[in-house]
Amino acid sequence: MPLPSKDEIRHEEFDDIYAATDLAAPLPKYKFPQHERAATHAYAVVHDELMLDGNSRLNLATFCQTWTEPEVRQLLDECLDKNMIDKDEYPQAAEIEKRCVHMLADLWNSPHSAGTIGCSTAGSSEAAMLGGLALKWKWRERRQKEGKPTDRPNMICGPVQVCWHKFARYFDVELREIPMEEGRFLMTPEEVLTRCDENTIAVVPTLGVTFNLQYEPVEAVAKALDEFEKETGFDIPIHVDGASGAFLAPFIHPDVIWDFRLPRVKSINASGHKFGLTPLGCGWVIWREKTDLPDDLIFDVNYLGGNMPTFALNFSRPGGQVICQYYNFIRLGKDGYQKIQQSCAATGQFIAEQINKMGPFEVVYDGKGGIPGACWIMKKGLNPGFTLFDLADRLRVRGWQLPAYSLPAHCGQIVIQRCLVRHGVSRDIAKLLVADIKAAVKHLETHRVSQSLTEQEAGGHHH
Ligand SMILES: Cc1ncc(COP(=O)(O)O)c(C=O)c1O
Repeated sequence: MPLPSKDEIRHEEFDDIYAATDLAAPLPKYKFPQHERAATHAYAVVHDELMLDGNSRLNLATFCQTWTEPEVRQLLDECLDKNMIDKDEYPQAAEIEKRCVHMLADLWNSPHSAGTIGCSTAGSSEAAMLGGLALKWKWRERRQKEGKPTDRPNMICGPVQVCWHKFARYFDVELREIPMEEGRFLMTPEEVLTRCDENTIAVVPTLGVTFNLQYEPVEAVAKALDEFEKETGFDIPIHVDGASGAFLAPFIHPDVIWDFRLPRVKSINASGHKFGLTPLGCGWVIWREKTDLPDDLIFDVNYLGGNMPTFALNFSRPGGQVICQYYNFIRLGKDGYQKIQQSCAATGQFIAEQINKMGPFEVVYDGKGGIPGACWIMKKGLNPGFTLFDLADRLRVRGWQLPAYSLPAHCGQIVIQRCLVRHGVSRDIAKLLVADIKAAVKHLETHRVSQSLTEQEAGGHHH
C-alpha cells in the first residue's frame, strides 16, 4: 500500500467529523470491524445514534433514577475503575459498602443493626434471588432436621415483579401468586393463609406493587401468620420486596409498620437505583440478624490477609454505585430523603387530581400512601373513541413515555396507565405533562382512532 501523501494526512487531520471519509458510509452493524478509526469519529457516531433513545427524564414509566447531582457524576467517574469484588485492592470501597449495610439495617429497624449482615447487589432482582435462596436454605435445614421431605418448597406472594417468577423457576420453588381481582389488586391476609402449608418457605409482600404502586399490608399479614403459627405450629418467615418502598416508607410513611420491627420479617430487598436515589446498578439485601443468612451460602474471599464473607451471584461489579449510595446517605440524611420523597409524593397527588378532573379517566391510585405517582383506567362503559394505548402513543409525539398496559392474571381485561414521579420530576414538568395529556385527549376525541376497540381487545394489545 503506498504511503499517504502529506496533503491527504493534513486533510484527514483537519476534516470536519461529518466530512471525514470514514464516516461517508454507514458503519458495520453485525460484522466485527476490521480497521481502527479516530476516537472522535467513533464517539460522534455512537453518541448520535443514541439520540433515537427516549429522553430518560421524560420517561414516566421507570422507577429508576434519571437525575443526579453533579457530585454523583464526579464520584461515579472517579470510581469507574473500582471493582466491588476486589475487597483487598479497594478496602475503602468495601468499608463503605459495609457502612451502607448497617445504615440500612438501622433505617429498617434491625434489632442488631451494627452486627447484622447484608450486601449490595446489581439491583433488586439479584437481591431478591439472594433473599429467596436464604429462605429456601433455612426451610430445608429445618425440614431435614425434622426428617421431612424437602422436595416441594413454595412461596406465597401477591402480584410480584418478574424477578420473583425468575427466582421461582431458576431455583425450583413453586410460586403461589395470589391473582389480582377486580377491586383487589393486592394480597390480603386471608388470601395468604389459604395458600400456606408446611412447605411454605416464605411470604413475600411487595412494598410498592409494580403494577399499581400501592403497598401490600405487611403488618396485617405478619399478624395473620402469628395466628397461623399458634394454630398449626408452622413458623413462616416474611421477606419484604421493598424495591421502591424501603426507601420511601421510612421517610414519608412513618405509620406503616413493614420492616424489622415485625419479628417475622427476616430479610428486605431494595433498589438503591430507584428511590435510593443512586445511579443505575445498585440494590441491597439486608437480613434481620446474622443468623437469618445460612452460613453455607457465604463464600470467603481473601481480604487484607483475612477473610471477607461474600454472598452474591455476580463476581465483578462496578463499585461507583455503592460509593454514590453512601454519598447520598451522608449528603441527604433522613431529612433530605424525606423532603425529596415528600415533594415527589405531592406531585403524584397533583397529577392524580388533574387526571380525575379530565372526564374520561377513573383514578385507581391517587398517589397517597404508596409510591409517588398516579394510576388510572378508562371509565367503565365509556368509549371515548380512543384507548389508553392510543393516548400513550399520542403523548410520545411530545417525548413523554407514559405507558399503558394490561394488568396480569385475572385482571387481563383491565388496562391501566401508570405515571411515576421520581426525583427530578418537578411540579412544573408535571403541569406541562397534564397540559399535554389534555391536548392529546382533545386530539384523540376529534380524530377517533379506535372506534370499536373494546377493553377486551385492548387487553391483547402489546406495547
Ligand atoms: C417490586 C419490584 N421488585 C423488584 C424489581 C426489580 O428491581 P431491579 O430493577 O432493581 O432489579 C422491581 C423493578 O421495578 C420492582 O418494582
